[in-house]
Amino acid sequence: MDIVVVGAGYVGLVAAASFASLGCRVYCVENNENKLKQLETDTIDIYEDGLQELIQQGIRDGRLSFHPKLSDVLQSAQMIFLCLPTPSVKHGIADLSSLLHVCEELGAAIEQDTLVVVKSTVPAGTTARLERVIRDAAARHGRQVDFDIAMNPEFLRQGCAVQDFLHPHSVVIGARDNRAADRLARLYASCLHNPVIQIMSPVEAEMAKYASNYLLASRVSIINELANLCEAVGADIASVRNVVGLDPNIGNGFLNAGIGYGGSCFPKDIEALIKTANTYGLDVPIMRAVQSVNDRQKQRLVAHIIRRFGNDLAGYRFAVWGLAFKPGTDDMREAPSLDVIHALSALGASISAYDPAARRKAQMLLEGTSVEMAADKYEAVLHADALLILTEWEEFYEPDLAQLKERMRQPLIYDGRRVLKNAQCRTSRVELIQIGAGRDH
Ligand code: UGA
Repeated sequence: MDIVVVGAGYVGLVAAASFASLGCRVYCVENNENKLKQLETDTIDIYEDGLQELIQQGIRDGRLSFHPKLSDVLQSAQMIFLCLPTPSVKHGIADLSSLLHVCEELGAAIEQDTLVVVKSTVPAGTTARLERVIRDAAARHGRQVDFDIAMNPEFLRQGCAVQDFLHPHSVVIGARDNRAADRLARLYASCLHNPVIQIMSPVEAEMAKYASNYLLASRVSIINELANLCEAVGADIASVRNVVGLDPNIGNGFLNAGIGYGGSCFPKDIEALIKTANTYGLDVPIMRAVQSVNDRQKQRLVAHIIRRFGNDLAGYRFAVWGLAFKPGTDDMREAPSLDVIHALSALGASISAYDPAARRKAQMLLEGTSVEMAADKYEAVLHADALLILTEWEEFYEPDLAQLKERMRQPLIYDGRRVLKNAQCRTSRVELIQIGAGRDH
């Protein structure tokens, strides 16, 4: 099967490289010149386990190629996957301009029998709108094209995106007619191992994607609110979570308490869902609460620090371990670490930060703040009054506590991701303050 993937962003690159590894011939279109140059020399600007190798393999095998213009490759394939960004522009309104632009182009040029597949996360009704845009553009060019369109949301997680693509929990296909759905279902059935394929309408597929992220994010806000309550009553959220997580009706996923969710999906998607609801005159108080609990949670460690050090942090030095919004990625979009660092910096603190992958991206975003980037985790804690752990990278789980004590001004750790063991810290006489761990438990 020959396919075109439009957009070499996160979803596009993973989809293109994975389809190529599954035997498809993939033409990936990217109009950002710098990105394209990098891709042509086999490098990517994304830190994602296994992705670079898969791209190199695809290029070597002659199954994956990158192109600046859609028009150059349009005739090469009968399936076109649209993997373009839909960032939030204002109060949750999704910016659909890249998608709309490409659909105009498709209307002017696609041949009969093309299947257009929308992979971007888009608000309810967008797939139908894109179909109209393609049809209108075709009519303006005096063409009558008989194409199909399907919505096929992607459920991959950063850090294990390739694995998620190759082994999805389900493949969702939203299409108005069987012909489109069957074509896409056949592609997935031919290259994935026993995929669970769910066929529905385009608007249901659009909603399913938002619903999934909303439910996951709401679990994070619920466990974080419970964690704060556990702190107040002297309980440990870890014990509580272990109990509720074993109830099969609850399950234990997405119940890790911390400093709030971030990333390019949850914050944007919940905002967009609220916007959609409001457009239809619906108030959605639970969605709004998920969002506001998360906003507050990002300041939770800062509140602890103010209680201890006061409002004026001039002269104090804080070490930060972990900047990326989650481990396994260098993505800094909506990372809670940014909120924490901006708040501490505004109170006059000096900060030394370390992240195994996100240093370069973080440095650009934190220009103008009092942050210095450290080369490793022990350099970061030098002369620090406290250490804050903000991302649960594996290398933070069992640090050399003796070395920390030697380097820090005082052995005090704020663990925002519950990576350290209380007993070990107690034995080493390191003071540990963890999200969700009451002092008396
Ligand atoms: C999320 C969803 O998990 C994917 O299913 C979805 O496909 C993707 O968004 C998307 O829409 O593209 P991702 O943003 O990569 O994936 O990251 P998650 O692992 O879901 O984590 C999101 C945030 O929630 C992170 O900041 C993480 O630290 C936080 N989180 C997650 C918690 O604080 N506690 C948890 O128990 C789980």
